[in-house]
Amino acid sequence: MCGIVGYLGSNHAAPVLLSKLRVLEYRGYDSAGVAVIESGRLNVLKAVGKLSNLETLLQKERPSATVGIGHTRWATHGSPTDENAHPHINASGTLAIVHNGIIENYSELKADLIAKGYVFRSDTDTEVAAHLLSHEVEKDGDVLAAILRTVSQMSGAYALGIVSQNSPDRIYAVNHHYSLTVGLGENESFLASDSAAVRQYTNKILRLAQSEIAEIRADGVRLFSFDGAESSREPVAVEASAYKIDKEGYKHFLLKEINEQPLVLRQTLSKYLSGADKQVNFNVDSFSPDIEGMYGVKMTDEEIRSIDRVQIVACGTAYHAGMVGKYVIEELCGIPVEVDIASEVRGRKLLGNERTLSIAVSQSGETADTLAAVKDAISNGSFTLGITNRPDSHLAQLTQNLIVTECGIEVSVAATKTYAAQLICFYLLAIYLAEKRGSITPERARQLKVGLNQLPGVVEQILGREEEYRRESLKLADAQDVVFIGRGFNYPTALEGALKLKELSYIHASGYAAGELKHGPIAVLDSSVPVITVLVPGKVYEKTLSNAQESRARNARMVAICVDGDETAPKTFDYFFRIPAVEELLSPIVTVVPMQLMSYFVADYLGKDVDQPRNLAKSVTVE
Ligand code: M6R
Repeated sequence: MCGIVGYLGSNHAAPVLLSKLRVLEYRGYDSAGVAVIESGRLNVLKAVGKLSNLETLLQKERPSATVGIGHTRWATHGSPTDENAHPHINASGTLAIVHNGIIENYSELKADLIAKGYVFRSDTDTEVAAHLLSHEVEKDGDVLAAILRTVSQMSGAYALGIVSQNSPDRIYAVNHHYSLTVGLGENESFLASDSAAVRQYTNKILRLAQSEIAEIRADGVRLFSFDGAESSREPVAVEASAYKIDKEGYKHFLLKEINEQPLVLRQTLSKYLSGADKQVNFNVDSFSPDIEGMYGVKMTDEEIRSIDRVQIVACGTAYHAGMVGKYVIEELCGIPVEVDIASEVRGRKLLGNERTLSIAVSQSGETADTLAAVKDAISNGSFTLGITNRPDSHLAQLTQNLIVTECGIEVSVAATKTYAAQLICFYLLAIYLAEKRGSITPERARQLKVGLNQLPGVVEQILGREEEYRRESLKLADAQDVVFIGRGFNYPTALEGALKLKELSYIHASGYAAGELKHGPIAVLDSSVPVITVLVPGKVYEKTLSNAQESRARNARMVAICVDGDETAPKTFDYFFRIPAVEELLSPIVTVVPMQLMSYFVADYLGKDVDQPRNLAKSVTVE
């Protein structure tokens, strides 16, 4: 979480820092700040809340410095206040630090610094680094040497950006099991925790290695390992990206991204299911030249046939995609699949061996818990496969096999189009594995591919029902608690529907396996509680309907996501979100769309911050 940026060159630093922070605001929006060095003096400006508050402050103050660092925060240690906002400074106000990650031994370091007379103004672990570094700088005035001594005392995974009056013509960057990218322009240099914020300005980038320090000047960069040894690496030339944040006429990014799903599905399908023979093929050219060669499923046919178990690790929406993946892989490949919430793998023994395929799903590719689980899988000797929207992410670097969702940047914190793309990738992967293992007939594979190719059009039809859905959705806006139920392939859809509603509207919602309702959760039902049921034709239709009837018998407000022409549903349900019928196995891509729209309409009606819900961040880089 949190985003770090830096600039030094001949232009005013503040506008550059601000535009880079805008790209990183998805990483947190509790507060933002910059520290610039103006005529040799450090000047720190910060504001609680959205980046726009910092923008107003910068417009008023108009710092003319050409060197600076900036930060956008998602609070971990200490609430979102001015005191806790980054950058943090030392007692004399001569150096400033921005920080991403957690300094795990900060309590001991803080106690030690307090004993030495240091006074703390914030509750953050970052301020510990500022005082510790200051303490070390005071010894000999050498900032680089002081950084080396400081990092040797800190534990945890973190990234730092540092400016100091002692070295006013440089920025220091520290990367310890995090992610930082340096960009090199014409007599100007850039720093950011996400390369997208560097590629706005230059196509020459250098990703910092693990446990590496960069001394950045306008005309170049020096790299040091934590033991002080200097190394050199040539920057990589990448495609400069015109990173555009544009709602294109939609009221919110979320609504735009929900509406982009047909396009995303088409793009992903055309990338991985192209060619006259319509074979699934993941080994395609990267759209990021700097990671060329990393895409694809590199396992040999023999290795694919050797797999006797699949494990999937992910968090949040990506975990729900993984659950759908489990059902689909088990159905088509006949291999047992376990799905784990990645944070639940921490502190536990992740079982696996060289016959295990370990799949990690992460939109950002930077989710700390997911990355940690992948490292466990690697140490088990398992095959690893990443599904991510960010080919330049840590996940992409870690995994042997990589499938990239073709979504473009997802700005809204709530995941929608990336979920659709993750599901498509799971379907394609399951078909790919099943064909290699001979667990489905060619006819079944063909039928599924035809079905997949129809999905973008079906989702388009659903999106055309927006107004109808809006009317139905607003009938639910007064609810305090909402229950989502589904079975089989659509049990994960119920979980995802509940997650979307609660994160966007702040209404309490829970998703359950429909058959599980009667084992406890049914106690919460009364006439005030909507029960949103995913009811699509297939193996579990009748049983799901029975579970809905059990809820109706408790006077719940019954809402169906059901297919056009279902004549049975009206006997049980009061409200309807109708969808075109598709094969049950493929239906999760379709059934989730009314839920996304419902959550959006309710949240917007209630005046919630749809694109940046409170307390959240798009990329969760702390464990
Ligand atoms: O970047 P990731 O896919 O690893 O993120 C995992 C979750 O934080 C994420 O899916 C989160 O649940 C969504 N923003 C919810 O809409």
